[in-house]
Amino acid sequence: MRIVLLGAPGSGKGTQAKLLMEQRGIPQISTGDLLRAAVSAKTALGLKAKAAMDAGELVSDEIVLGMVRERLAEPDAERGFILDGFPRNGAQAAALDALLAEIGQDIDRAVHIQVAFDELLKRLTGRRTCTQCGALYNVYFSPPRQEGVCDRCGGTLMHRDDDNEQTISRRLRVYQEQTQPLVDYYQAQGKLATVSGSGEVADILRRVSETLSA
Ligand code: AP5
Repeated sequence: MRIVLLGAPGSGKGTQAKLLMEQRGIPQISTGDLLRAAVSAKTALGLKAKAAMDAGELVSDEIVLGMVRERLAEPDAERGFILDGFPRNGAQAAALDALLAEIGQDIDRAVHIQVAFDELLKRLTGRRTCTQCGALYNVYFSPPRQEGVCDRCGGTLMHRDDDNEQTISRRLRVYQEQTQPLVDYYQAQGKLATVSGSGEVADILRRVSETLSA
């Protein structure tokens, strides 16, 4: 199944994508994770992307589309995938449709995860990510047993550079202006499902799974 997860920064796309990946055996493809890996590796692409990411702006479509095209060509994406953080504007959505059409494929479902603004801010400022295995924590909602250490693998937890209040408010504005319109885009294609992203992670997963099975 080919799935797009839509939602504001902090709505839980990454959290749900990781669970869906385990449940369905298809990869999570997060453009944010791919870009952060390129930034840490200091590749040419990473160096170009860094300024936009630090400012909470979108990285250029050219960079992101090149990266997605390469990732979708990997063998593990043949049986399906969960796109997390992509597409992010109309041009990316249209390019994705065109790219999939070239290989006779299509998006099956776009799931819009909705969360109230105040909760997003707390989720983002409290987020901690394992530098080794990518596990997600939140100092307010789901803290690790030992501060700064991953429960699963013992790795060090980090606070993302763009999870500061100033960049978060820019990211939320960019979401409203450029990404939110994709809700209508997928609605018009008859592929949209909207679920509440508030409450327990397991309950949200159940809601998301139900929309995928419907
Ligand atoms: P990206 O990494 O995609 O960030 P984002 O969209 O801002 O989304 P987040 O990762 O912040 O949130 P999420 O919805 O995944 O929430 P999560 O599950 O982590 O993008 C970063 C930057 O890269 C962009 O600003 C841009 O510059 C660039 N970029 C990326 N893609 C691009 C593209 N396609 N085009 C151009 N530029 C691009 O959860 C957040 C926190 O909440 C965690 O602590 C988690 O534990 C907690 N949480 C989750 N669910 C719950 C719950 N139910 N209750 C309580 N807490 C919860």
